Amino acid sequence: MSAQSTPEPIDAARLLDTQRAFDSVAADYDGPRGNNALIQRMRQTLWDTVTAELGNDARLLDIGCGTGIDAAEFARRGHEVVATDWSPSMVARTDSRAGAPALGGRLSARHLGVQQLDRLEGTFDGVYSNFGPLNCAPDLEDVANQCARLVRPGGVMVFSVMGRICPWEAVHYALRGRFRRAAVRAARGATAVGMNRHTIWTKYYLPREFYRPFTDHFQLASYSALSLFMPPPYMVDRYERNPARYERLGRLDDRFGKWPLLRDMGDHFLIVMRRR
Ligand SMILES: C[S@@+](CC[C@H](N)C(=O)[O-])C[C@H]1O[C@@H](n2cnc3c(N)ncnc32)[C@H](O)[C@@H]1O
Repeated sequence: MSAQSTPEPIDAARLLDTQRAFDSVAADYDGPRGNNALIQRMRQTLWDTVTAELGNDARLLDIGCGTGIDAAEFARRGHEVVATDWSPSMVARTDSRAGAPALGGRLSARHLGVQQLDRLEGTFDGVYSNFGPLNCAPDLEDVANQCARLVRPGGVMVFSVMGRICPWEAVHYALRGRFRRAAVRAARGATAVGMNRHTIWTKYYLPREFYRPFTDHFQLASYSALSLFMPPPYMVDRYERNPARYERLGRLDDRFGKWPLLRDMGDHFLIVMRRR
């Protein structure tokens, strides 16, 4: 994975780069790339948070649903889920899950980018977005305004977002002499991250930077680190060599991830906001 940042915005051409990148991995995304043990651990935290906030019969919007793992799980639990993604191949994977009898017709999939939320009608009890689709959004202010339109008063949003301070990543690349890669999350503006010989255009955030555009319409309920002590998912080989040792690190995440300062770090952070 390579990376390079520029001050220019995420425009239509860059959105297409990102779309092609995710289209190119959709077929094998449920394997180690998109759903290894470390990813599954973070997924569980988002599932538990959504359930704690909204029970099991809410109307949910998934932004950047990927192959629909979360959307199918929430539909199985009893929620009605509208799952959206900018990659047509990802949406097709989600759509192929929607007919499973256990989901009771509660999952629908739609090809829709986060920059196109104005095309969506209806009201939702909750919105979630897992593993960084919102890092690919060209304009968070627009996302905040559209979410304010779509989420009922008292409704909840739960997002996992790629953060700026990931100690594991900085040390991993610095030890290999890849200093620019080690510092990439510090960049302002759009960053080109290579994946599968394609480019994903992404922006990294501190939790407070991310929350700022949402302040007018949403109250910050909590935020916490995901994979701070535990290595990021792409280091799953380490975990697999000694799962017991790394599970102990995972328990440190569970225990201390909400602490001041620590909650500003990690591979991702999980942020919960409530509609005023
Ligand atoms: C790392 S994947 C996570 C997928 C899924 N949420 C999961 O938990 O497996 C990021 C997803 O964001 C989607 N994405 C990228 N840019 C997007 C955009 N502008 N609007 C909506 N989704 C986008 C990608 O197509 C991809 O499916």
